[in-house]
Amino acid sequence: MKGIVLAGGSGTRLRPLTKVTSKQLLPVYNKPMVLYPIETLVKAGIKEILVIIAPNNAGDFLKLLGDGEDYGCKISYIIQEKPEGLAQAFTIGKNFIDDDNVTLILGDNLYEDDFSADIKNFKGGAKVFAIHTKDPERFGVVEFDKNMKALSIEEKPKAPKSNYAVTGLYVYDNSVIKKAENLKPSARGELEITDINNLFLQEGTLEVAFVHGKWFDCGTFESLFEASELARQKSLNVLK
Ligand code: DAU
Repeated sequence: MKGIVLAGGSGTRLRPLTKVTSKQLLPVYNKPMVLYPIETLVKAGIKEILVIIAPNNAGDFLKLLGDGEDYGCKISYIIQEKPEGLAQAFTIGKNFIDDDNVTLILGDNLYEDDFSADIKNFKGGAKVFAIHTKDPERFGVVEFDKNMKALSIEEKPKAPKSNYAVTGLYVYDNSVIKKAENLKPSARGELEITDINNLFLQEGTLEVAFVHGKWFDCGTFESLFEASELARQKSLNVLK
């Protein structure tokens, strides 16, 4: 299993913080945000990680992460010239993934959960992780039938069919590369991860699991602040 951390994009929603640095380098309590998703992958046993970054601030990522040795993994980098969508990670990361399975994590997603078992026991198809949220219209939203079987996933729907958001950790078999290569950009001009997930859903190979514990996408000042507060409580051992 290879790992990709997607840490590009322009971070416009967090201006002026992101005028001088990348969103994923902002502090979450006592360390830069991107270290949390890297730790999530390393904890799950992933040793080879590709970090996808925007051209701006690329040197700062290198300075922080280096070759990965300090974090227990081997890190390589690739630049995404423009933020053309999450699913582009699999076309620009194609050579890195090679013939392996791949786990993608968004560089701004922080999890309290441990995904070791999900990743070590992964056999094929796709596995995504959903969580109940107050503001589903900000996310990819899963619709379930009465047996909690996934029926559809919609990207930022105006009228969400449930309160379950698909979070930014995605485990795929190698067919994700071909699926990404055949995608067309959405109305907002991006290669959507939701379209990839719907392809696996149509094939009957998408598993939707649930996140345990807290999850933050750091997409708003409020969520960034709450993530810092949780990290602080954990590091002071206020929480277990
Ligand atoms: O956080 C989970 C959500 O992430 C999912 O529920 C949605 O289905 C998924 O589309 C995504 O939605 P966002 O609107 O939150 O994605 P955003 O544009 O904020 O990008 C997420 C991260 O990926 C962010 O750190 C920037 C980075 N990114 C984004 C794009 C579009 C890139 O590195 N390259 C890109 O092309």
